[in-house]
Amino acid sequence: MRSVAIKGVKEFEIKEIAEPVSDGKKVIIDVKKTGICGSDIHYWVAGGPVGLVMGHEFAGVVRDPGDRADLKVGDRVTALPISPCLKCHACLSGNPQYCIHTWDQATGLALTNPGGLAPRLATRSDMVVKLPDNVTDEEAAMVEPTAVGLHAVRLADIKVGEKVLVIGGGIIGLVSAMFAKMEGASLVVVSETNRARGEKSVALGVADEWLDATDPKFMENVMAKTGDGFDKIIECCGNAPAVTSALTTVKTGGTVVLVGVSLEAITIPTTIAVMHELTLQGAIAYTKEEFVTCVNLMANKQIEVTKFIDSVVGLEDVQASYEKLTSGTSDAIKIIVDPNK
Ligand SMILES: NC(=O)c1ccc[n+]([C@@H]2O[C@H](COP(=O)([O-])OP(=O)(O)OC[C@H]3O[C@@H](n4cnc5c(N)ncnc54)[C@H](O)[C@@H]3O)[C@@H](O)[C@H]2O)c1
Ligand SMILES: [Zn+2]
Ligand SMILES: [Zn+2]
Repeated sequence: MRSVAIKGVKEFEIKEIAEPVSDGKKVIIDVKKTGICGSDIHYWVAGGPVGLVMGHEFAGVVRDPGDRADLKVGDRVTALPISPCLKCHACLSGNPQYCIHTWDQATGLALTNPGGLAPRLATRSDMVVKLPDNVTDEEAAMVEPTAVGLHAVRLADIKVGEKVLVIGGGIIGLVSAMFAKMEGASLVVVSETNRARGEKSVALGVADEWLDATDPKFMENVMAKTGDGFDKIIECCGNAPAVTSALTTVKTGGTVVLVGVSLEAITIPTTIAVMHELTLQGAIAYTKEEFVTCVNLMANKQIEVTKFIDSVVGLEDVQASYEKLTSGTSDAIKIIVDPNK
Protein backbone atom coordinates (compact mmCIF):
# COMPACT_ATOMS: atom_id res chain seq x y z
CA MET A 1 0.00 0.00 0.00
CA ARG A 2 1.04 3.59 -0.55
CA SER A 3 2.40 5.55 2.39
CA VAL A 4 4.26 8.78 3.07
CA ALA A 5 7.64 8.12 4.71
CA ILE A 6 10.48 10.38 5.88
CA LYS A 7 13.25 10.36 3.27
CA GLY A 8 15.62 13.01 4.61
CA VAL A 9 15.77 16.52 6.05
CA LYS A 10 12.42 18.17 5.28
CA GLU A 11 11.77 15.51 2.68
CA PHE A 12 9.08 12.89 2.34
CA GLU A 13 8.65 10.20 -0.28
CA ILE A 14 5.64 8.20 -1.37
CA LYS A 15 6.64 4.66 -0.53
CA GLU A 16 5.10 1.22 -0.89
CA ILE A 17 4.95 -0.55 2.47
CA ALA A 18 3.52 -3.90 3.50
CA GLU A 19 -0.09 -3.97 4.65
CA PRO A 20 -0.55 -4.85 8.33
CA VAL A 21 -1.23 -8.52 8.92
CA SER A 22 -3.65 -9.86 11.56
CA ASP A 23 -1.96 -11.28 14.64
CA GLY A 24 -5.14 -11.92 16.62
CA LYS A 25 -4.25 -9.14 19.06
CA LYS A 26 -3.78 -5.79 17.34
CA VAL A 27 -6.71 -3.92 15.82
CA ILE A 28 -6.34 -3.26 12.10
CA ILE A 29 -7.93 0.00 11.06
CA ASP A 30 -8.83 1.37 7.64
CA VAL A 31 -7.72 4.97 8.06
CA LYS A 32 -10.16 7.71 7.09
CA LYS A 33 -8.47 10.83 8.43
CA THR A 34 -5.06 11.64 9.96
CA GLY A 35 -3.88 14.89 11.48
CA ILE A 36 -0.45 16.46 10.93
CA CYS A 37 1.02 17.22 14.37
CA GLY A 38 3.62 19.79 15.44
CA SER A 39 5.66 16.89 16.86
CA ASP A 40 5.69 15.22 13.44
CA ILE A 41 7.17 18.44 12.11
CA HIS A 42 10.19 18.04 14.44
CA TYR A 43 10.93 14.61 12.89
CA TRP A 44 10.51 15.92 9.36
CA VAL A 45 12.83 18.86 10.09
CA ALA A 46 15.41 16.49 11.65
CA GLY A 47 15.07 14.15 8.65
CA GLY A 48 14.61 10.96 10.60
CA PRO A 49 14.21 8.24 11.43
CA VAL A 50 14.38 7.59 7.68
CA GLY A 51 11.47 5.43 6.60
CA LEU A 52 9.18 6.52 9.46
CA VAL A 53 5.52 6.57 8.42
CA MET A 54 3.99 9.13 10.75
CA GLY A 55 0.38 9.87 11.63
CA HIS A 56 -0.47 9.28 15.31
CA GLU A 57 -3.71 11.30 15.19
CA PHE A 58 -6.04 9.08 13.22
CA ALA A 59 -9.64 8.01 12.84
CA GLY A 60 -10.93 5.07 10.87
CA VAL A 61 -12.98 1.93 10.66
CA VAL A 62 -12.18 -1.45 12.19
CA ARG A 63 -11.08 -3.99 9.59
CA ASP A 64 -9.94 -6.61 12.11
CA PRO A 65 -10.90 -6.26 15.79
CA GLY A 66 -7.92 -8.34 17.00
CA ASP A 67 -8.45 -9.44 20.59
CA ARG A 68 -11.10 -6.81 21.35
CA ALA A 69 -14.29 -8.82 21.81
CA ASP A 70 -16.35 -5.63 22.09
CA LEU A 71 -15.32 -4.41 18.61
CA LYS A 72 -16.58 -5.57 15.25
CA VAL A 73 -15.64 -5.02 11.63
CA GLY A 74 -16.95 -1.62 10.52
CA ASP A 75 -16.90 0.09 13.94
CA ARG A 76 -15.68 3.67 13.79
CA VAL A 77 -12.69 4.19 16.09
CA THR A 78 -9.70 6.28 17.05
CA ALA A 79 -6.87 5.28 19.40
CA LEU A 80 -4.27 6.53 21.80
CA PRO A 81 -1.08 5.94 19.80
CA ILE A 82 1.01 5.27 22.92
CA SER A 83 2.61 2.00 24.06
CA PRO A 84 2.77 2.04 27.89
CA CYS A 85 4.17 -1.08 29.61
CA LEU A 86 1.30 -1.25 32.16
CA LYS A 87 3.77 -2.53 34.80
CA CYS A 88 5.94 0.39 35.90
CA HIS A 89 5.31 2.96 38.64
CA ALA A 90 3.96 5.48 36.08
CA CYS A 91 1.54 3.01 34.53
CA LEU A 92 0.37 1.65 37.88
CA SER A 93 -0.27 5.18 39.15
CA GLY A 94 -2.60 5.90 36.22
CA ASN A 95 -0.02 7.93 34.31
CA PRO A 96 0.88 5.86 31.24
CA GLN A 97 1.85 9.10 29.51
CA TYR A 98 5.20 9.18 31.31
CA CYS A 99 5.95 5.48 31.22
CA ILE A 100 9.45 5.21 29.74
CA HIS A 101 8.10 2.78 27.13
CA THR A 102 5.18 4.92 26.07
CA TRP A 103 6.78 6.09 22.83
CA ASP A 104 8.86 2.93 22.07
CA GLN A 105 6.17 1.32 19.97
CA ALA A 106 3.88 4.30 19.48
CA THR A 107 1.79 4.11 16.32
CA GLY A 108 3.04 6.66 13.81
CA LEU A 109 6.08 7.53 15.95
CA ALA A 110 8.07 4.26 15.83
CA LEU A 111 9.57 2.58 12.76
CA THR A 112 7.97 -0.70 13.87
CA ASN A 113 4.45 0.77 13.88
CA PRO A 114 3.58 2.83 10.80
CA GLY A 115 0.85 5.41 11.38
CA GLY A 116 -1.99 7.04 9.54
CA LEU A 117 -0.09 8.43 6.55
CA ALA A 118 -1.19 5.22 4.86
CA PRO A 119 -4.64 3.77 4.19
CA ARG A 120 -4.37 1.03 6.82
CA LEU A 121 -2.60 0.55 10.16
CA ALA A 122 -2.37 -1.88 13.06
CA THR A 123 -2.52 -0.55 16.61
CA ARG A 124 -2.58 -1.80 20.20
CA SER A 125 -6.06 -3.08 20.94
CA ASP A 126 -6.27 -1.76 24.51
CA MET A 127 -5.70 1.78 23.24
CA VAL A 128 -8.57 1.75 20.71
CA VAL A 129 -11.55 3.96 21.54
CA LYS A 130 -14.94 3.54 19.86
CA LEU A 131 -16.51 6.67 18.41
CA PRO A 132 -20.06 7.88 18.91
CA ASP A 133 -21.95 8.31 15.59
CA ASN A 134 -22.11 12.08 15.97
CA VAL A 135 -18.32 12.53 16.17
CA THR A 136 -17.05 12.95 12.61
CA ASP A 137 -13.81 11.45 11.26
CA GLU A 138 -12.29 14.95 11.15
CA GLU A 139 -13.21 15.56 14.78
CA ALA A 140 -11.91 12.14 15.77
CA ALA A 141 -8.55 12.91 14.17
CA MET A 142 -8.47 15.99 16.43
CA VAL A 143 -9.01 14.05 19.68
CA GLU A 144 -5.31 13.39 20.25
CA PRO A 145 -4.07 17.02 20.11
CA THR A 146 -7.19 18.16 21.97
CA ALA A 147 -6.33 15.76 24.79
CA VAL A 148 -2.81 17.22 24.94
CA GLY A 149 -4.35 20.65 25.62
CA LEU A 150 -6.75 19.26 28.22
CA HIS A 151 -3.91 17.54 30.08
CA ALA A 152 -1.74 20.69 30.03
CA VAL A 153 -4.56 22.89 31.29
CA ARG A 154 -5.43 20.46 34.07
CA LEU A 155 -1.79 20.54 35.19
CA ALA A 156 -1.89 24.35 35.08
CA ASP A 157 -4.63 24.15 37.72
CA ILE A 158 -6.23 27.41 36.58
CA LYS A 159 -8.41 29.17 39.16
CA VAL A 160 -11.47 31.18 38.14
CA GLY A 161 -10.38 34.73 37.33
CA GLU A 162 -6.71 33.96 36.65
CA LYS A 163 -4.83 35.49 33.74
CA VAL A 164 -3.26 32.98 31.39
CA LEU A 165 -0.70 33.36 28.62
CA VAL A 166 -0.43 30.64 26.00
CA ILE A 167 2.89 30.89 24.14
CA GLY A 168 2.50 29.64 20.56
CA GLY A 169 -0.71 29.62 18.55
CA GLY A 170 -0.36 26.23 16.86
CA ILE A 171 -3.04 23.62 17.48
CA ILE A 172 -1.65 22.72 20.92
CA GLY A 173 -1.67 26.37 21.97
CA LEU A 174 -5.16 26.96 20.63
CA VAL A 175 -6.79 23.96 22.31
CA SER A 176 -4.97 24.90 25.53
CA ALA A 177 -6.36 28.43 25.23
CA MET A 178 -9.84 26.97 24.65
CA PHE A 179 -9.66 24.84 27.81
CA ALA A 180 -8.09 27.69 29.85
CA LYS A 181 -11.17 29.78 29.09
CA MET A 182 -13.45 26.86 29.99
CA GLU A 183 -11.63 26.59 33.34
CA GLY A 184 -12.64 30.16 34.09
CA ALA A 185 -9.58 32.25 33.22
CA SER A 186 -10.58 35.92 33.08
CA LEU A 187 -8.00 36.70 30.40
CA VAL A 188 -6.47 34.32 27.89
CA VAL A 189 -3.73 35.79 25.71
CA VAL A 190 -1.83 33.97 22.95
CA SER A 191 1.67 35.15 22.04
CA GLU A 192 2.94 34.41 18.53
CA THR A 193 5.83 35.22 16.23
CA ASN A 194 3.55 34.54 13.25
CA ARG A 195 1.12 37.45 12.92
CA ALA A 196 -1.37 35.44 10.84
CA ARG A 197 -1.63 32.78 13.53
CA GLY A 198 -1.84 35.33 16.32
CA GLU A 199 -4.73 37.11 14.65
CA LYS A 200 -6.42 33.79 13.96
CA SER A 201 -6.31 32.79 17.64
CA VAL A 202 -8.56 35.76 18.39
CA ALA A 203 -10.72 35.35 15.28
CA LEU A 204 -11.41 31.72 16.22
CA GLY A 205 -12.62 32.87 19.63
CA VAL A 206 -10.15 30.96 21.81
CA ALA A 207 -7.95 33.93 22.80
CA ASP A 208 -9.22 37.23 24.16
CA GLU A 209 -6.17 38.96 22.70
CA TRP A 210 -2.87 38.11 21.07
CA LEU A 211 0.59 39.59 21.57
CA ASP A 212 3.33 39.83 18.98
CA ALA A 213 6.33 38.04 20.53
CA THR A 214 8.67 39.87 18.12
CA ASP A 215 7.46 43.32 19.21
CA PRO A 216 10.25 45.18 21.14
CA LYS A 217 7.46 46.37 23.46
CA PHE A 218 6.32 42.81 24.19
CA MET A 219 7.17 42.93 27.93
CA GLU A 220 5.66 46.41 28.25
CA ASN A 221 2.47 45.06 26.70
CA VAL A 222 2.44 42.07 29.08
CA MET A 223 2.77 44.33 32.12
CA ALA A 224 0.13 46.73 30.78
CA LYS A 225 -2.34 43.84 30.58
CA THR A 226 -1.49 42.09 33.83
CA GLY A 227 0.16 44.53 36.23
CA ASP A 228 2.65 41.97 37.49
CA GLY A 229 2.66 39.13 34.98
CA PHE A 230 0.38 36.21 34.14
CA ASP A 231 -0.76 33.76 36.84
CA LYS A 232 -0.20 30.78 34.56
CA ILE A 233 1.76 30.25 31.37
CA ILE A 234 1.26 27.36 29.01
CA GLU A 235 4.34 27.13 26.80
CA CYS A 236 3.49 25.45 23.50
CA CYS A 237 6.61 26.02 21.34
CA GLY A 238 9.65 24.47 23.04
CA ASN A 239 12.36 26.76 21.63
CA ALA A 240 14.68 28.83 23.85
CA PRO A 241 13.13 32.28 23.20
CA ALA A 242 9.65 30.92 23.89
CA VAL A 243 10.60 29.15 27.13
CA THR A 244 12.55 32.25 28.21
CA SER A 245 9.52 34.41 27.57
CA ALA A 246 7.48 32.02 29.74
CA LEU A 247 9.89 32.59 32.65
CA THR A 248 9.80 36.37 32.23
CA THR A 249 6.05 36.86 31.71
CA VAL A 250 4.77 34.73 34.61
CA LYS A 251 4.22 36.52 37.90
CA THR A 252 6.51 35.73 40.83
CA GLY A 253 5.47 32.48 42.46
CA GLY A 254 3.54 31.52 39.32
CA THR A 255 3.41 28.34 37.26
CA VAL A 256 4.78 27.59 33.83
CA VAL A 257 3.49 24.46 32.13
CA LEU A 258 6.02 23.21 29.58
CA VAL A 259 4.27 21.47 26.69
CA GLY A 260 6.53 22.46 23.79
CA VAL A 261 9.22 20.00 22.84
CA SER A 262 12.72 20.60 21.54
CA LEU A 263 14.69 17.66 20.15
CA GLU A 264 17.87 19.44 21.22
CA ALA A 265 18.95 20.78 24.61
CA ILE A 266 18.14 24.48 24.93
CA THR A 267 19.62 27.24 27.10
CA ILE A 268 17.20 29.09 29.37
CA PRO A 269 17.77 31.49 32.32
CA THR A 270 16.86 29.16 35.19
CA THR A 271 17.94 31.80 37.71
CA ILE A 272 14.64 33.58 37.07
CA ALA A 273 12.81 30.44 38.17
CA VAL A 274 14.99 30.33 41.30
CA MET A 275 14.63 34.01 42.20
CA HIS A 276 10.88 34.09 41.54
CA GLU A 277 10.15 30.64 43.03
CA LEU A 278 8.40 29.55 39.86
CA THR A 279 6.85 26.16 39.44
CA LEU A 280 7.95 24.51 36.19
CA GLN A 281 5.53 21.74 35.32
CA GLY A 282 6.11 19.39 32.39
CA ALA A 283 3.11 18.06 30.50
CA ILE A 284 3.23 15.09 28.17
CA ALA A 285 0.34 13.62 26.24
CA TYR A 286 -2.76 12.59 28.23
CA THR A 287 -4.26 9.85 30.28
CA LYS A 288 -6.78 7.50 28.72
CA GLU A 289 -9.51 9.19 30.75
CA GLU A 290 -8.56 12.58 29.26
CA PHE A 291 -8.54 11.14 25.74
CA VAL A 292 -12.02 9.65 26.22
CA THR A 293 -13.20 12.88 27.86
CA CYS A 294 -12.29 14.75 24.66
CA VAL A 295 -14.34 12.29 22.58
CA ASN A 296 -17.27 12.88 24.95
CA LEU A 297 -16.88 16.67 24.90
CA MET A 298 -17.08 16.50 21.10
CA ALA A 299 -20.10 14.16 21.17
CA ASN A 300 -21.88 16.48 23.63
CA LYS A 301 -20.99 19.51 21.47
CA GLN A 302 -19.24 21.14 24.43
CA ILE A 303 -16.18 21.81 22.30
CA GLU A 304 -15.89 22.58 18.59
CA VAL A 305 -12.51 21.70 17.13
CA THR A 306 -13.16 21.44 13.39
CA LYS A 307 -12.76 25.23 13.21
CA PHE A 308 -9.02 24.64 13.63
CA ILE A 309 -8.87 22.52 10.44
CA ASP A 310 -7.46 24.37 7.46
CA SER A 311 -7.78 21.74 4.75
CA VAL A 312 -8.03 18.02 3.99
CA VAL A 313 -5.34 16.80 1.59
CA GLY A 314 -4.22 13.55 -0.06
CA LEU A 315 -0.90 11.73 0.44
CA GLU A 316 0.68 13.58 -2.52
CA ASP A 317 0.09 16.89 -0.77
CA VAL A 318 1.70 15.97 2.56
CA GLN A 319 5.10 17.42 1.62
CA ALA A 320 3.57 20.75 0.54
CA SER A 321 1.42 20.78 3.69
CA TYR A 322 4.48 20.47 5.94
CA GLU A 323 6.13 23.28 3.99
CA LYS A 324 3.04 25.42 4.49
CA LEU A 325 2.84 24.66 8.21
CA THR A 326 6.49 25.63 8.72
CA SER A 327 6.49 28.74 6.50
CA GLY A 328 6.23 31.00 9.55
CA THR A 329 3.70 33.15 7.72
CA SER A 330 0.75 30.88 6.92
CA ASP A 331 -2.31 31.01 9.15
CA ALA A 332 -2.98 27.30 8.63
CA ILE A 333 -3.28 25.55 12.01
CA LYS A 334 -4.24 21.95 11.36
CA ILE A 335 -4.05 20.07 8.08
CA ILE A 336 -5.80 16.72 7.91
CA VAL A 337 -4.72 13.97 5.53
CA ASP A 338 -7.16 11.61 3.84
CA PRO A 339 -4.92 8.70 2.75
CA ASN A 340 -7.57 7.51 0.29
CA LYS A 341 -7.98 10.84 -1.47
N1 LIG B 1 3.97 17.70 25.48
C1 LIG B 1 3.20 17.07 24.63
O1 LIG B 1 2.53 16.09 24.95
C2 LIG B 1 3.09 17.56 23.23
C3 LIG B 1 2.14 17.03 22.36
C4 LIG B 1 2.03 17.55 21.07
C5 LIG B 1 2.89 18.55 20.68
N2 LIG B 1 3.84 18.99 21.54
C6 LIG B 1 4.77 20.06 21.18
O2 LIG B 1 4.11 21.28 21.41
C7 LIG B 1 4.61 22.26 20.50
C8 LIG B 1 3.44 22.89 19.77
O3 LIG B 1 2.81 21.95 18.93
P1 LIG B 1 1.95 22.50 17.70
O4 LIG B 1 1.44 21.34 16.97
O5 LIG B 1 0.98 23.52 18.16
O6 LIG B 1 3.15 23.18 16.88
P2 LIG B 1 3.27 24.36 15.86
O7 LIG B 1 4.65 24.30 15.33
O8 LIG B 1 2.14 24.31 14.91
O9 LIG B 1 3.07 25.68 16.76
C9 LIG B 1 4.10 26.36 17.41
C10 LIG B 1 3.84 27.84 17.25
O10 LIG B 1 4.75 28.57 18.05
C11 LIG B 1 5.06 29.79 17.38
N3 LIG B 1 6.29 30.31 17.97
C12 LIG B 1 7.58 29.95 17.73
N4 LIG B 1 8.42 30.65 18.51
C13 LIG B 1 7.65 31.46 19.28
C14 LIG B 1 7.94 32.40 20.30
N5 LIG B 1 9.20 32.67 20.69
N6 LIG B 1 6.89 33.03 20.90
C15 LIG B 1 5.61 32.80 20.53
N7 LIG B 1 5.29 31.90 19.55
C16 LIG B 1 6.30 31.25 18.94
C17 LIG B 1 5.16 29.38 15.94
O11 LIG B 1 4.97 30.49 15.08
C18 LIG B 1 4.04 28.35 15.82
O12 LIG B 1 2.83 28.95 15.37
C19 LIG B 1 5.60 21.51 19.61
O13 LIG B 1 6.90 21.68 20.14
C20 LIG B 1 5.18 20.08 19.75
O14 LIG B 1 6.25 19.18 19.53
C21 LIG B 1 3.94 18.54 22.80
ZN1 LIG C 1 -0.09 14.81 18.05
ZN1 LIG D 1 4.94 1.68 32.19
